[in-house]
Amino acid sequence: MSDFINNFWSNYVIAATVLSILGCAILLWMTARKRVVGDKDNTTGHVWDEDLREANNPLPLWWVGLFIITIVFAVGYLAFFPGLGSVQGKLGWSSAGEYKAEVEKANAELAPVYARFASAPVEQVAADPAARAIGERLFMNNCAQCHGSDARGSKGFPNLTDNDWLHGGTPDKIIETITMGRVGVMPPMAAAVGSADDVKNVANYVLSLSGSPHDSVRAGLGKAKFAVCAACHGADGGGNQALGAPRLNDNIWLHGYGEAAIIAMVNNGKQNVMPAQNERLTEAQIRVLASYVWGLSHNATTASAKP
Ligand code: HEC
Ligand code: HEC
Repeated sequence: MSDFINNFWSNYVIAATVLSILGCAILLWMTARKRVVGDKDNTTGHVWDEDLREANNPLPLWWVGLFIITIVFAVGYLAFFPGLGSVQGKLGWSSAGEYKAEVEKANAELAPVYARFASAPVEQVAADPAARAIGERLFMNNCAQCHGSDARGSKGFPNLTDNDWLHGGTPDKIIETITMGRVGVMPPMAAAVGSADDVKNVANYVLSLSGSPHDSVRAGLGKAKFAVCAACHGADGGGNQALGAPRLNDNIWLHGYGEAAIIAMVNNGKQNVMPAQNERLTEAQIRVLASYVWGLSHNATTASAKP
């Protein structure tokens, strides 16, 4: 399958490939013909180093043979395997297909390992040392590039160990987040708030919610403006997990701390994407991962005490 919008490049590659093979064949045919002997002694007449002369012999047979085998091999290969532009070849082989088959085989082999985690509650899986080890490795391979190898996140990527949740920290919510992904959307709000001064005031009001250093006069002026924010962040700034709107009355800042960071959020808004994993990971892997993530902010070992 070609990713291009039309067949031009595929045809171009087909033409170049066919012409090269034809070119080889023609070259072979021309050079393999018996030469008309120029000189009586079968030389071309060139002489070097006094007596070194170039004989005018046909190509050695073994060499011609190799050349023919190469051409036949190329034609056969292109008939069965992909290579001629976007032509698939008779066997239908593709590297993507081979990868997929290998992943399916590996998943099938691992199925028994995951089987005992499939029916157990997440809280119990989280307490299983074997599951935790698998979860940690899955996390390193699939999640650490964004959430950090210690899962503490960084600016824009949430900390998964602090038990402060954008979308909810119950096992079901975590499974849902990993499986389907999440998009956190805050629209630019400056127009709804008013002037640049109003934005600064509302930012100071937001800072006051968490008891962070702020200008209390501005905070007082900004309080009324916060009404447009309350729809998502809650009247008290407590957040709304259904919308992925973070708590503003704690001291955990996903997009940076302080007046300037909040003003930037209000002016520019934000769209933040957690990619869905259901294409890459099996349901069982997601379950083990969710247990690992859940365990990072819960004392998993005590939960295991329950049968
Ligand atoms: C490409 C970067 C990226 C990768 C890879 C990624 N995440 Fe995320 N993840 C994010 C972002 C960004 C968010 C925040 C989404 C938002 O702002 O609403 C997030 C949110 C989450 C949340 C919700 C946190 C909360 O507070 O509700 C969980 C749980 C999570 N990720 C787990 C994982 C796991 C497990 C993996 C590995 C399978 C993973 N993530 C891979 C970027 C990523
Ligand atoms: C339509 C819903 C919505 C409205 C209205 C809204 N926000 Fe947000 N806000 C969000 C979401 C969702 C996020 C998280 C974005 C993400 O996932 O990264 C966010 C993030 C933030 C953050 C970053 C929090 C952090 O931890 O770094 C601040 C600050 C903020 N909003 C302030 C405001 C203010 C002030 C207003 C009103 C002027 C406002 N928001 C209005 C949805 C909203």
